[in-house]
Amino acid sequence: MNPDPSSYTVSIHYDRRLYRQDIAGSIAHARMLAKQGIITSDEAEALCDGLAAIGVEIEMGEFPWRPDLEDIHMNIEARLKEKVGPVAGKLHTARSRNDQVALDMRLYTKEASQKAIEGITKLQEALLNRAEEHKALVMPGYTHLQRAQPVLLAHHLLAYFEMLQRDRVRFQQCHATADVLPLGSGALAGVPYPLDREFVAKELGFSSISANSMDAVSDRDFLVQYQSAAAICMMHLSRLAEELVLWSSQEFGFVTLDAQYTTGSSIMPQKRNPDFAELGRGKTGRVYGHLMGILTTLKGLPLTYNRDLQEDKEGFFDTVDTLLSTLEAFTGMIATMTIMTQRMEAAAQKGNMLATDLADYLVGRGMPFREAHGVLRQASDYARSQGKEVHHLSLEEYQRFSDLFDADVLKISLQGSVEARDVPGGTSPRRVEEAIKGARIQLEACDDI
Ligand code: ARG
Repeated sequence: MNPDPSSYTVSIHYDRRLYRQDIAGSIAHARMLAKQGIITSDEAEALCDGLAAIGVEIEMGEFPWRPDLEDIHMNIEARLKEKVGPVAGKLHTARSRNDQVALDMRLYTKEASQKAIEGITKLQEALLNRAEEHKALVMPGYTHLQRAQPVLLAHHLLAYFEMLQRDRVRFQQCHATADVLPLGSGALAGVPYPLDREFVAKELGFSSISANSMDAVSDRDFLVQYQSAAAICMMHLSRLAEELVLWSSQEFGFVTLDAQYTTGSSIMPQKRNPDFAELGRGKTGRVYGHLMGILTTLKGLPLTYNRDLQEDKEGFFDTVDTLLSTLEAFTGMIATMTIMTQRMEAAAQKGNMLATDLADYLVGRGMPFREAHGVLRQASDYARSQGKEVHHLSLEEYQRFSDLFDADVLKISLQGSVEARDVPGGTSPRRVEEAIKGARIQLEACDDI
């Protein structure tokens, strides 16, 4: 026997999560129809009461979901008929599922953007708290994963604060794109009823109404925007994840992740694996995949609505869930990790990281930078051959490489190195202190969309 072919078109198992948006949209629509005299106010009241009762039913887990009715819109409408009788049929006056689903998705995207922003804020707070706690801690800064120059841990953490601040802006932009009411577009051409679209927009909290009905029912660029903002944010989180994996390894030993963010090995009892960080890094892949998915679904569609658009949902919902849970896990992980200050400081002492400062010293005494670079290269090689750090050579040893070295060269230190980097945006304690203050002010100012 052939399976029922209609199951291919069913979406209720995933679009049921739009129920709140669908009900809110229908209630606003019914109120507007009554206000405009298209239905009576008694009819509107019956519709709104029925819809509210359905909302409760769904929340209580008592709604009789019917896959044969395909999607969330048909399920709710059919249930409304059972509850309030034939008047239910009036709800769909001046409306199509095409503008209805566009509405639901826009409402959902606005809420998801708001939640992403809240998640970002919490992670930024966690980073900022840790930065503030360790304002003076010096650690190695890396390029090519080789020790490069000393930096403050706070400076390193605040780099992620900045990335997340740009992520926030991307979600704000996404919210603004979604914040346009499509209802009133009908199937594609508009509707032959005297609607008050501004009223519906106001009821549902939209800032404006769509200017073109064909665009309104057929574009999903706001979903592309959300998923692209999410992909970029996950990329940032994945880099943080990679650092946490490295930093929590025995080789680095810079942090110890709290036990709740690690798991044991099934065979090696001594291990604590950084699974949360790894999963965050891993889940970035599926978020990238969903972005490609929606772009590809949209690329060949002629105006206006095509059923392909139903494929906009699963990847998007998965992206929302993945992003929000990753932000939450990372917030907890950052807030609870133990920072191994001595390991970081000790690591900063090694790796000849003051070679640049020593070169700058020679520059201060008139040597062209390129030449100073060569001198320090030789001095570093020499130090390495002696099993020493280049900033631990004796004056006599320095002078073998250049007679511009004087006793004050011995004062060059890690602390002095970070203090010297006092340009705006640099790692000096003064600048980092300023950056921490600025970040606090930014966070306080951006509660809202
Ligand atoms: N479930 C459909 C979707 O998500 C709703 C719109 C259906 N419209 C239509 N003309 N078949 O796209």
